[in-house]
Formats: sequence, structure tokens, C-alpha cells
Amino acid sequence: MLVAPSILSADFGILAKEVVDICTAGADLVHVDVMDGHFVPNMTIGPVVVKAVADVATKPLDVHLMVEDNSFFIDLFAPLKPKYISFHYESERHHHRVAQKIRDHGISPAIVINPATPVSCIAEIVRYVDMVLLMSVNPGFGGQKFIPIYDKIRELRRLLDERNPKCLIEVDGGVNDKNVHELKEAGVDIVVAGSYVFGHKDYAEAIASLKV
Ligand code: DX5
Ligand code: ZN
Repeated sequence: MLVAPSILSADFGILAKEVVDICTAGADLVHVDVMDGHFVPNMTIGPVVVKAVADVATKPLDVHLMVEDNSFFIDLFAPLKPKYISFHYESERHHHRVAQKIRDHGISPAIVINPATPVSCIAEIVRYVDMVLLMSVNPGFGGQKFIPIYDKIRELRRLLDERNPKCLIEVDGGVNDKNVHELKEAGVDIVVAGSYVFGHKDYAEAIASLKV
């Protein structure tokens, strides 16, 4: 299992140190939650702060857009050269166009679905992305309760085996050392974990406990 700590739960007063610490503690990716106050009822960070994160991160960035205007935010964040930019199925009308726009920047596109959105909605776009992010909470905040989406993960794995076997599955929201085993069995490749990792005294221990 690859682990992407979400910096949403980091101490923003010492953000650069937090980013360095999770990278040296064994993080595989640095998960950056971008919220616009419209698609979700919260706001987070823009490209100025994320540039400071990119400057000190020794692991690739995984940018999760929770915004209404995906195209505008892709143009803002692409210069920071994240490995992934994920956009929500629910916030977009033109999925292929947006996936291609991300790819044209030399970045891997990923599509995200909320817990109540069925896997069948993304059946026609999975061939065009490198990762699918399944939300296991409703997006907007860290520290929420995990919604069991195991059946969706298994259904997505079957769809990807048929249409895009190299595509990775990431799960985001309420992940901890208890549910990570069943997530792995269901077919998840990457877990995002915010409050679990940053709520731990020892980041290396927390990250290691998720590498099942
Ligand atoms: C939720 C964000 C998540 C969040 C995860 O909208 O997309 O990345 O930070 O935090 P935890 O692991 O605390 O649920
Ligand atoms: Zn996220």
C-alpha cells in the first residue's frame, strides 16, 4: 500500500517542517486538498502556499481539487508540477476535455467520486485517467467518519481490470490502521490519511502502520 498523508491536518503554522517530516517518515506522496468554498463548504490553500510545499517536498504532490471551475485551478497548479491532479466527477461537465488538459501539462489525470456516486458514472472515462480516487467521506473536512465503500472498490477493480488495468485506486477519508487491511483486500493501491497520521506523535510509526 502506498500512503499519501493529507496536509489538511498538518500544523499550518509550521507547514514546511510538517511536509519535510512526513516525507522523511516514509510518505509516498504529499496529498494537497484544494477547496474553493463553492463545491465544498470549506476553503484551504492556493498556489502561493502550495508552491512553498512543493519547494520542500521530497515526494511527489497529489493535488485533489474540490472546486467548481476545474480548468481555472488546473492552470494555477500545473506550474508546480504535481504527479497527479484529481478532479471531481460531480463538478465537471466535460470529463475527457479536463483529463486531456491535465495530461497536456505532463501531469497524470485522476477522477474522483463522492461516496454516493456510483462507479458506473465513470465507466466511460476510466480509460483516460491514471488513477481513480474514491471518497470514503463527503469532501470538505478532515477527521470525518469513514463510510464503508468496500463494494464500490471491488466493483471499480473489476471495471479497471477490463478497461484500464494499470489505473490505480486511491481512497480518501477516515482511513486508519483498522480499516486499511480491508481496503487493501478490496484492491486499493494508495490511501490518503490526514488526521490519523498528523494525530500521531510518531509520523513514521503511523505511516508504517498503513503500509499493509
Ligand atoms: C476531505 C479531504 C481529505 C481529508 C482526509 O475532503 O479530501 O483528504 O483531508 O482527512 P482524514 O484522513 O482525517 O479523513
Ligand atoms: Zn483529499
